[in-house]
Amino acid sequence: RTTAVILAGGTGQRVGLSIPKQLLKIAGKAVIEHTLTTFEKADSIDDIIVLMAPGYVPDIEKIVAKAGFTKVKKIIEGGSTRNETTERAIAALGEGLAEGEDLNVLFHDAVRPLLSQRVIDDCVVALERFQAVDVAIPSADTIIVTRTHGEDGEFITEIPDRSRLRRGQTPQAFKLSTIKRAYEVAAGDPNFQATDDCSVVLKYLPDVPIHVVAGDEYNMKVTQPVDVFIADKLFQLASTATPEQVSEETYRELLTGKTVVVFGG
Ligand code: CTP
Repeated sequence: RTTAVILAGGTGQRVGLSIPKQLLKIAGKAVIEHTLTTFEKADSIDDIIVLMAPGYVPDIEKIVAKAGFTKVKKIIEGGSTRNETTERAIAALGEGLAEGEDLNVLFHDAVRPLLSQRVIDDCVVALERFQAVDVAIPSADTIIVTRTHGEDGEFITEIPDRSRLRRGQTPQAFKLSTIKRAYEVAAGDPNFQATDDCSVVLKYLPDVPIHVVAGDEYNMKVTQPVDVFIADKLFQLASTATPEQVSEETYRELLTGKTVVVFGG
């Protein structure tokens, strides 16, 4: 079986609203409702669990009931960091599993509401061959590595070859047994620090290859205030075309401001 884990334990400090950004309405629905709809519709997904910011579980229960999502099996509170939220999900997924039984799990940021079915399917197919799978896109920007020198500020220490750099998105997909083992090893490291789940496998299970599936530009993370505006625009495009199909004409309309932006709903 394959379970989607929706990571929604954050409070969205950088967007800076009074509610977590996953509850913000874009194109008529809460961000997380768009995300849940995508997984509910995916043939390759059997179950969904949601890890929600403390105090907001009832909001998700309401959304799930109203939308009639049938795959959502558990809604629980997330932890104080993204990795703690993942650990809670791993514990919840372990309950009710028979001895020796394994699961496919796809961890996805609730705040990436424009995920495509193609990416979900590619992750699930990749799990037939690999125990760990990441989703990434090439970087258009040059990425520089810096170091801060006191009051003089930041300086470049390295400019890695851009052709090998990728921007990591989600889902990050694993065999449950693999990600569970990675976190068990990590628990023994007093200096444990990570912001995603593939880096936990990379560091603590170095023998496990992590396959990379192509993500897409639509699959953005709503992180900064401007992303709310961009996501809204992308929903308008997504309703007419997949990223690969967006016509030159649509781009031109977008660039000349002919498309109308409607916030909320
Ligand atoms: N997340 C989580 N549990 C946490 C922190 C984050 O499940 N303790 C989730 C967020 O809800 C989000 C995803 O991880 O869906 C990506 O994190 P990010 O964009 O950093 O979200 P926030 O932590 O909410 O944002 P900020 O850092 O601006 O507060």
